[in-house]
Amino acid sequence: MIKLLREKPVSVGIVGTGVCLPEKILTNRDLEKMVDTSDEWIITRTGIRERRITEKSRSTSDLAAEAGAMALKNANIMPEEVDLIIVATITPDMFFPSTSCLVQDKLGASRASAFDISAGCSGFIYAMTAGTQFISTGMYNTVLVIGAEVLSRIINWEDRSTCVLFGDGAGAAVLRRVEDGFGILSVELGADGSNSEVLKIEAGAIRMPITENNCHNPERYLYMAGSEVFKFAVRIIGDSTLEALDKAGLKRKDINCFIPHQANIRIIQAAARRLNVSMDKVFVNVQKYGNTSAASIPVALHEAIEEGRIKKGDNVVLVGFGAGLTWGASVVKWAV
Ligand code: UT7
Repeated sequence: MIKLLREKPVSVGIVGTGVCLPEKILTNRDLEKMVDTSDEWIITRTGIRERRITEKSRSTSDLAAEAGAMALKNANIMPEEVDLIIVATITPDMFFPSTSCLVQDKLGASRASAFDISAGCSGFIYAMTAGTQFISTGMYNTVLVIGAEVLSRIINWEDRSTCVLFGDGAGAAVLRRVEDGFGILSVELGADGSNSEVLKIEAGAIRMPITENNCHNPERYLYMAGSEVFKFAVRIIGDSTLEALDKAGLKRKDINCFIPHQANIRIIQAAARRLNVSMDKVFVNVQKYGNTSAASIPVALHEAIEEGRIKKGDNVVLVGFGAGLTWGASVVKWAV
């Protein structure tokens, strides 16, 4: 049995956040020129107005490292102090090595160990939960958690049902020990592999390698059964949030800021209605970036902090859902 390094677990919280959002903006009007769609359809069905697209010369590890560097700067922590880097992504630079190893090098975080997590749009919650354990048990002091995606390179730009939905970006958070009673109060994680078919990329890995014959087939791009994922999302945001609140000993009325995965404004509104959380407590930025998968929650969290929507002592709910299917919700009592 592994010996616990601390007598009793300590409180762990987020002490700094950062983002990287590529400069290039692709608007709904731009998309009207590429596929049979309209600004009006995209806005009314999704709430998205524009999304960011990564320059050809850059990759997921570049965005992740930039977001990570900002988070460390905001936390006043040097890269050499980082003990572990966890990158959540479904768009790694390569099969291997892990994107987190490339980020470790780019940041000069020479002491840090590093690994990736693949949990779709729930990736950041999974990564934050993993990172928390290392600090809570006493193994590490400082963990850098990053959600980063370059989804623009796995999208079929001829498929209007998916290409209007997604965008690129990265968000990061630094985890450290915080004052007792603050920080991550609870986490609820889940997975349902029996529904793995509704959100996937079929080709390009081991089961269906890319060949001369299939290199232009739709199977090599992101596929989503939209309405199935929609129904799952509304249900699971509500259920997992209630579980996480219960574990934290809190009620819905105790939520000060609600930060859901930014996939579709209609999903967010329906989930908020189901939870009876008023929209003025819900942070929304899907209109600016579309769905950035694992980056969506840390980017929204960073912007909520920048806009002064979160103060010390607030109960912040982070909740995500995505490919796997997976989900994750966490209640964080803001510590800084
Ligand atoms: O983060 C991972 C999880 N992802 C999500 O959470 C996304 C979940 N799903 C959704 O957000 C929604 O299901 C979508 C936005 C993907 C689709 O919205 P919907 O209201 O479920 O539309 P629909 O799929 O039922 O399509 C309605 C119509 C169809 O036409 P017909 O068959 O009714 O004639 C589509 O062909 O809209 C058509 N359509 C479009 N029309 C214009 C689909 N995409 C487009 C488009 N522009 N881009």
